[in-house]
Amino acid sequence: MKILVVDDERAIRNSLKEILADEGYEVDTAEDGAIAEEMIDKEHYDVIFCDIKMPGKDGEEVLEFVTGQGIDSAIVMISGHGDIDTAVECIKKGAFDFIQKPLDLNRILITVKNAGERTTLVKDNKVLKKKVYGQEMVGSSAALQHIRDIISKVAPTDARVLITGSNGTGKELVARSLHALSLRSAMPYVEVNCAAIPSELIESELFGHEKGSFTSAIKQHKGKFEQADGGTLFLDEIGDMSLAAQAKVLRVLQEKKLSRVGSDKDIKVDVRVVAATNKDLRAEIEKGNFREDLYHRLSVIVVKVPSLDERKEDIPELVDYFDRQICAESGKGTVPFSPEAIKALQDRSWPGNIRELRNVVERLLILGGNPVSAADVEEFF
Ligand SMILES: Nc1ncnc2c1ncn2[C@@H]1O[C@H](COP(=O)(O)OP(=O)(O)O)[C@@H](O)[C@H]1O
Ligand SMILES: [Mg+2]
Repeated sequence: MKILVVDDERAIRNSLKEILADEGYEVDTAEDGAIAEEMIDKEHYDVIFCDIKMPGKDGEEVLEFVTGQGIDSAIVMISGHGDIDTAVECIKKGAFDFIQKPLDLNRILITVKNAGERTTLVKDNKVLKKKVYGQEMVGSSAALQHIRDIISKVAPTDARVLITGSNGTGKELVARSLHALSLRSAMPYVEVNCAAIPSELIESELFGHEKGSFTSAIKQHKGKFEQADGGTLFLDEIGDMSLAAQAKVLRVLQEKKLSRVGSDKDIKVDVRVVAATNKDLRAEIEKGNFREDLYHRLSVIVVKVPSLDERKEDIPELVDYFDRQICAESGKGTVPFSPEAIKALQDRSWPGNIRELRNVVERLLILGGNPVSAADVEEFF
């Protein structure tokens, strides 16, 4: 763990450094705020001890610098006799804690331990988030690059997005990226597969219900819209939603409020809706299965995810990615695919798209040779 000590008094710098180094921490020191900021720019510190009163840039300014840059270091203010109020103010502005002069050895060690744990938590959280939302979209084809461009432009807005494309093209991945790159990324991301929920349950699933509103409603239940408040709601397979549920969704989109099943009370929600479908919604509108007004509400931006057959040049990268992913899951080293095997895969057509490709790679890793050959592809496809 790396620690930075910022104080204009040499004696304090030295004694803190000594105490912390004795405990096995790696410690740097800075004698004023400007030097500290330069160091923080170059190095990542888990914990920063920072004096409040310093000539030039003071501790509060260093704190503002760190939080302003989004750096996840835990900052512990060092306060003298006269600046307790400022120390409290600093806590409000995002400092982790403060310690008072004269320095108390035990207090310092406890604080640094707590602060270090807090930084680790923040980091773990970021890694976890990346695992859940930031799953990579692999491929450098122009088609995929185009999708990435649209995502990066659209994500930070609150515009509703309709994602279209066949099964297995990566629509869910697009929806997650839209959330991960949005200003709502710290708020909930909630997925609903509209095709998987029986039509008589979808209203309660989306809008919640009050206790006793129907036979099996034994307690109050918050719906997905409420769960996603402040964040993003992904309505997957929206083409399979019943007309009754469509009418209710339309109301939430228009009025930004809903009522639970069995209640008249309006509940305000702030949710960005992203929807996906593999159906041709225009054709569904013609057939009377989908509301045209809802379609227009949902499709402010339409992202059409290309099929794998339209971007076969991504196959080598995808095979390599799944090879690593699948082998890592089973704790094994990767197995190479011969160039001929890759070519054989590119010559195929892929109605199941990326999902199908992943399955085929998995099968070849189990059944094929090392390296996987074109003959393996012929035999086990
Ligand atoms: N560009 C991509 N790079 C890596 N994996 C992908 C990519 N696109 C899709 N996948 C993977 O393929 C599978 C199917 O994607 P998914 O988003 O569920 O498709 P859809 O929702 O369109 O049916 C998932 O396991 C997903 O992680
Ligand atoms: Mg899907």
